[in-house]
Amino acid sequence: MLILNRRPRRNRVSAGVRDMVAEHSLSVNDFIFPMFVQEGKDIKVEISSMPGIYRFSLDQLLVEIEDVVAHGIKSICLFPNYPESKKDAVGSESYKEGTLYLNALSEIKNKFPELVVMTDVALDPYSSDGHDGIVKDGKILNDESVEVLVKMSVAQAKAGADIIGPSDMMDGRVGAIRQALDAEGFTHTSIMSYTAKYASAFYGPFRDALESAPKFGDKKTYQMNPANVKEAILEAELDFEEGADMLMVKPAFSYLDVIKTLKENFPLPITAYNVSGEYAMIKAAAQNGWIDGDKAMMEMLISMKRAGADIILTYFAKDAARLLS
Ligand code: PBG
Repeated sequence: MLILNRRPRRNRVSAGVRDMVAEHSLSVNDFIFPMFVQEGKDIKVEISSMPGIYRFSLDQLLVEIEDVVAHGIKSICLFPNYPESKKDAVGSESYKEGTLYLNALSEIKNKFPELVVMTDVALDPYSSDGHDGIVKDGKILNDESVEVLVKMSVAQAKAGADIIGPSDMMDGRVGAIRQALDAEGFTHTSIMSYTAKYASAFYGPFRDALESAPKFGDKKTYQMNPANVKEAILEAELDFEEGADMLMVKPAFSYLDVIKTLKENFPLPITAYNVSGEYAMIKAAAQNGWIDGDKAMMEMLISMKRAGADIILTYFAKDAARLLS
C-alpha cells in the first residue's frame, strides 16, 4: 500500500462530493438563445446544417418564443433572413422603419416584455455583397459603414432592443453607436460588442441560415486572424473606452484562451459565442452515433464557464436547459 497524504480521488468519490467541490456550474441564466426570422406566414424551416434549429416567420417565431421562455431562458438574440430582392449595396433595408426585423423586435417586446432581446448589427443580411460593411472597388469601407451601423442601431433601439450587438468589426463603431443612442435618449440600451470576432470557418451553418455568405473574397480585412490573442486585448481596450457594456469572444470553443485573457483583464461581463459550426459538429457526430451528444454539449458549455465566460450565446440553450432542469 502507498503511504499517501494526498489522494485527490477522495474528492471524486461520489456524485454528492463531486457536486459539492465543483468549481464551476452552468445555469439557464447564462444562456442567450439565437433565433432566425424570415418573411411570410406559417413558416418553420429547419436549417439543414443545424439540426433542431429553425427559421421562422414572425407568427411561428412568437409561438416558439413561448416554448423558449417555458424552458426558463431569459434572453434571445434575433437574426433576420432577407430575400435577395431586399438587399442592396448599402444595406438600406436595415434601418427603414417597419421592415421585417424591426417589426419582429417590436412584436416580441410587446408580447414578452420581460424577455431580454439582443440584436445583431452588421450589414451582411441586408447587403447584396454579403459583407458586414459597404464595399467599394473590392474593399470594405470603414467610416462609411459605421454611418449605416449607427442608423441600424438607433432603429433597433427604437424598435425595443435591450442589447445592441455590433458584429461587424469596423473600427470605432462602438463609440459612434453609444453616442448616437445617447443623443436619441436611449441611455439604457446597452451594447454587447463582438470584441474579438475571428475570421472563422465555424460560421458556415449560420451563413446557410441567413443565406448571407460573402459574394466575393473573405472577411479577413475586418475579422481577426485566429493566430492572434494580443490583438484581442487591443480590441477590448478600444471597446471598453468607447463604452461597451459587455464584451464577446467569437467563436468560443477554439478560443477559450481568448475568453480567459479578456476575463482576467477587463471588469466587464464576457460572452462566449458558441457558434453554428460548433453546434453542427456535435449534432452531426451524435447523429452518426460517434459521440454522446448531450454529454459532449455539456462538456463544451462548461469549458466556456471554466475559461471565464459569464454569458453563453448558444444554439444549445434549449437542449441544455432541459438537462439542467
Ligand atoms: C454577422 C454574423 C455572423 C455570425 C453572427 N453574426 C456571421 C459572419 O460574421 O459571417 C455567426 C454566428 C454563428 O456562426 O453562429 N456579422
